[in-house]
Amino acid sequence: MQLSVEEVKENREEWMPLLLLADPEETMVEKYLHQGIMVAVYGDGEPAGVIIAVPLEGGREWEIKNVAVAPRFWRRGIGTLLIEEVERRLPKEADTLWVGTGGFDSGPFLFYEECGFQFDHVLENFFVDNYPEPIIDEGEQCVDMYYLKKTSFRWG
Ligand SMILES: CC(C)(COP(=O)(O)OP(=O)(O)OC[C@H]1O[C@@H](n2cnc3c(N)ncnc32)[C@H](O)[C@@H]1OP(=O)(O)O)[C@@H](O)C(=O)NCCC(=O)NCCS
Repeated sequence: MQLSVEEVKENREEWMPLLLLADPEETMVEKYLHQGIMVAVYGDGEPAGVIIAVPLEGGREWEIKNVAVAPRFWRRGIGTLLIEEVERRLPKEADTLWVGTGGFDSGPFLFYEECGFQFDHVLENFFVDNYPEPIIDEGEQCVDMYYLKKTSFRWG
C-alpha cells in the first residue's frame, strides 16, 4: 500500500465523517476542529486516517483530541504513523503529550500504550457530563475518561 501524509490546514470539515468515528458528537469535534495540528494519511490515494492535537494552556503541554483510522485500514500501522507525524510537528518547547480515552484496557487504550503512552489519571464522569447521548465503545458505555501521557516523543 502506498501511504502519503499531509498536514491539513484548510477545509478541515471535510474530514468530519472520519473524526466522528473517534468522537461521535459533532459539537464536541467542532470545539477543536480548527485548532492545533491536523495531519491526514492517505492509503493508495484514499482517505485512511486523521489526527488532531491541540496546545493546552501555556503551550508546553499538548493533547491529542482525535485520532481515527477508517476500519478497512485498521492494524496496518496507520494509527501509529499519525501519532509519529503529530509528534514530529510539535513545537520544540512541547514537553508533554496527553491523550484521553473512554475505556481502560480498551482497543484504543492498548493502542496508545503501544505508541509509548502511560496511564496517568482518570477524569470521572467525563462522558456522562459532556455528551448528551451515551457513548458506546466496543459494547461498553463510556463513563470516565482515562488519560495517558508521554513525555519523550521525538521520532526520527
Ligand atoms: C485506535 C485506532 C486509531 C488504531 O489505529 P490502527 O491504524 O489500527 O493502529 P496500528 O495499526 O498503528 O496499531 C498499532 C498497535 O496498537 C495496538 N492496537 C491497535 N488497535 C488495537 C485494538 N483494537 N485492540 C488491541 N490493540 C490494538 C496493537 O498492538 C497494534 O499492533 P499490531 O496490529 O501489530 O498488533 C483505530 O482502531 C481507530 O480509528 N478506532 C476507531 C476510533 C477510535 O476509537 N479512536 C480513538 C478514540 S480514544
